[in-house]
Amino acid sequence: MNGFGFTTCPNIVCERGGARELAGLCRETGMRRVMLVTDPGIVRLGLHKPALAGFEAADTALTLFDRVEADPAESTILAAVKRAREENVDGVVGFGGGSSMDVAKLVALLAHPDTKQAIGDVYGVGNAKGRRLPLVLVPTTAGTGSEVTPIAIVTTGETTKMGVVSPLLLPDAALLDAELTLGLPPAVTAATGVDAMVHAIEAYTSRIRKNPISDGLAREALGHLSRSIHTAVHEGDNLEAREHMLLGAMLAGQAFANAPVAAVHALAYPLGGQFHIPHGLSNSLVLPHVMRFNISHAAAPYAELAPLVFPDTHWSGSDQSIANDLIDRIEGLIESLELPDRLERMDIAPEALTGLAEDAMGQQRLLVNNPREVSYDDALAIYRAAY
Ligand SMILES: NC(=O)c1ccc[n+]([C@@H]2O[C@H](COP(=O)([O-])OP(=O)(O)OC[C@H]3O[C@@H](n4cnc5c(N)ncnc54)[C@H](O)[C@@H]3O)[C@@H](O)[C@H]2O)c1
Ligand SMILES: [Fe+2]
Repeated sequence: MNGFGFTTCPNIVCERGGARELAGLCRETGMRRVMLVTDPGIVRLGLHKPALAGFEAADTALTLFDRVEADPAESTILAAVKRAREENVDGVVGFGGGSSMDVAKLVALLAHPDTKQAIGDVYGVGNAKGRRLPLVLVPTTAGTGSEVTPIAIVTTGETTKMGVVSPLLLPDAALLDAELTLGLPPAVTAATGVDAMVHAIEAYTSRIRKNPISDGLAREALGHLSRSIHTAVHEGDNLEAREHMLLGAMLAGQAFANAPVAAVHALAYPLGGQFHIPHGLSNSLVLPHVMRFNISHAAAPYAELAPLVFPDTHWSGSDQSIANDLIDRIEGLIESLELPDRLERMDIAPEALTGLAEDAMGQQRLLVNNPREVSYDDALAIYRAAY
């Protein structure tokens, strides 16, 4: 076994209706002047309302920053940091999907009174220094696992994103309240749910930092996600299924935070960057094709995961044949979730595939984790298979 390290968020609370206790959790982490970072869609739905009442009762000042957009731009983060400084906040809550949580992470880092770093100084791995403000994260989507990852993703140009990776971005607490996710539309539930499944699958086959803790988390995550994704998409008000999805996404987040994702994500990012396809859907479009490419190097771990993804199937035969069947069944699952399953259906011209493959080769940080080496020709062949 390779040596390994494992880090995660120290305090995870999973409770239906838990948003009503958010103010108390914030006070426990030492916050008295809180900035709640969220997006306009959430405010329109009033999802943050149960949490707000608690702040009045707890006598804690609250500033609402509700200008986060999907795939947040650097300018949004700078605006939020400026506001946090003006309001002299001493703690930050990220309340929403990956976009709001990622903005909150960077505000906690960059608005700390001792921070001398500008945003341009912290991109990359391990470049953030010093301290951050107390930070609590409350996910309202079940996908990114951002509430337990040391990662924040920022849109820095028309088609480019950059990541900040630092243990400083792990929050003091993550609060999982499945009631917040009851209204997620079916298409978002499906895409973000498949993203979480990909986090677990890629963590389990991660080449360099795969380890026994992330393996256990990935397996547990897949159990929760596979059991519930169909129900969560087709019966959105099923709280039990929503809770399994939220828990599964968090467990998968812990897994991939320590055993990073690979070629599925590397090939998905260019689809998001160039064609603004949502992250989960981009993953779903390439997932079966990357798995087929990987099978020569990952048949055994795929075969280990098959009974977790489809527990009602009797699995027998060689690893190779089980892995092949698993991939076919995953294609069936994607279809049953009513997600588009071909790049051709996404308004992508066939001539665009070479540009996508070029961009994918730029994702070496992820490609090094793939069980099988991926060349430019391989990437192009995978996009063609997905077309
Ligand atoms: N930090 C990480 O580890 C990590 C990992 C993967 C992706 N990301 C980033 O996360 C972002 C994507 O996050 P996301 O997929 O969670 O979506 P999101 O945060 O971008 O939100 C998407 C939309 O869903 C709506 N929404 C959120 N919760 C809702 C609810 N409960 N009911 C109804 N609508 C709701 C929002 O209003 C928004 O319009 C991207 O910027 C991506 O790069 C971060
Ligand atoms: Fe992802």
